[in-house]
Amino acid sequence: MSELLSLTRAARLIGVARSELQRKIRHGEMISHDGMVNIESLLICYPDAQLEDTVEFRRITQIKERAFGKRVVEYVLPDAEVLAARITELSTMLANSQGQVRQFNALLDRLWAKLTEIEAQPDTVPRLTMENLKTWLKNEVKLSMEPGLNNSLAIKDSVLRIMTAQVTVLPSKHDFLLEGHDTILEAAMRSGIPLDYGCSGGNCGLCKAKVLSGEVKKTRHHDFVISEAEKNQGYILLCSNTAVTDVVLEAPVAGSVQDIPFQQISAKVKATGLITDDKLLLHLQTPRTQRLRFLAGQRLILRVGQSFSEELPIASCPCDDRNVLFHISRQSGNLFSDYVFDRLREHDVVEMEGPHGEFILHEKSSRPLYFFAFDSGFAPIRSLIEHALSLEAENIHLHWFGSSQKHIYLPNIAHAWKDALDNFHYTEHVAGFDLRSVSGKREETLMSQLESISTQDANLLQGDIYIAGSEDAVGIAEQFFLGKGLPKTRVSVECLK
Ligand code: FES
Repeated sequence: MSELLSLTRAARLIGVARSELQRKIRHGEMISHDGMVNIESLLICYPDAQLEDTVEFRRITQIKERAFGKRVVEYVLPDAEVLAARITELSTMLANSQGQVRQFNALLDRLWAKLTEIEAQPDTVPRLTMENLKTWLKNEVKLSMEPGLNNSLAIKDSVLRIMTAQVTVLPSKHDFLLEGHDTILEAAMRSGIPLDYGCSGGNCGLCKAKVLSGEVKKTRHHDFVISEAEKNQGYILLCSNTAVTDVVLEAPVAGSVQDIPFQQISAKVKATGLITDDKLLLHLQTPRTQRLRFLAGQRLILRVGQSFSEELPIASCPCDDRNVLFHISRQSGNLFSDYVFDRLREHDVVEMEGPHGEFILHEKSSRPLYFFAFDSGFAPIRSLIEHALSLEAENIHLHWFGSSQKHIYLPNIAHAWKDALDNFHYTEHVAGFDLRSVSGKREETLMSQLESISTQDANLLQGDIYIAGSEDAVGIAEQFFLGKGLPKTRVSVECLK
């Protein structure tokens, strides 16, 4: 049996999402050995896999780049010393393999000589049987020497090992690939893994973790001091180190909102831009040394001007902790929205407090994800979807209901996801009435729209449901799904003002 590969590495080799392999294992279509697979099992499931067959992977990468809030993702070679160490490790493996091949060849020669000797002896084995055996052996040796798909995947795996290292986090058992110049912390964030951290700049020590196996290298300076005793035990800062080889770490991962500390950060306006005449995109940037930790779907309190404040859902992904986005609606008489629309300028300071809220993704669930956004409910839903894409969720459905077409204010984003990913499904629904006020006839209309979606999609009631928007619309949708027998744990709601 060939070497076992982690699911993360195997998915990268074949060019599919990790969740697809997990599904195949769950359904008994692929054999796994303690969560690992070998190349033979991969080829049974993907007999047509090609060395270049990375279309799906590229699609996911493309989407991930967008999910990073336009942060520049560099596809560069790792640090020279890291590269040298990885090549040295592979060279050792190659030398060992060559030694083994030489031994096997010598063994084959001896076997051949022995067979020939037996063949020459009279009355031992019938001559015909011996000839058949030798012909079979010759063919088998020839076949095993031919470059095949198995070899192609093995070569690709070797290249992947030079360009990337796998990081496994215990006790949570998360794993992810680290590429290019990334620190371990950056690579974890790109993959949607919420490791503990604070400043991202080597000052606070909150990202301290213990290396259990593998080799790491410090690539960024840090002021935080790790004692000699801790260094000897393998402690490092994740924001200052990269992985040279595959690494296993002991590090805490945020599993719930309680694991995220309350933060107060003075951010600056990076940009504002009108999306429609009454909807504005606010882009805030935190200081380099004080980034925002949050879980996708959470809210922040923003303070502008004298003391105009509002609690708003974050409309971006935690994978970009410096660039935080909000969708602001103009509401007449609301001093906060008036200030943001009329007076807030680039570089102005905005105080951020939080995060708050429990509208977060159930990451351990493998059920399909169904998102229902009502008007501005798209903001927290966008954050959740971008996070789900970082995690390579297998099956994502977005239904965006607008009071009018104009209220579906960023359709290009949803269309881009749909165009780029086979597993992303997007449908727009125009209600034709104000979704902030839904009762009587309107309630019946909304219920019948939901009924129609449910009838057309047999998997809907097997999924996890996330609903965000005005209290009225969210209440009706929640009631609809609970009425269909879904437990409350599978229907998550977020009511916006
Ligand atoms: S996150 Fe502060 S030292 Fe690493």
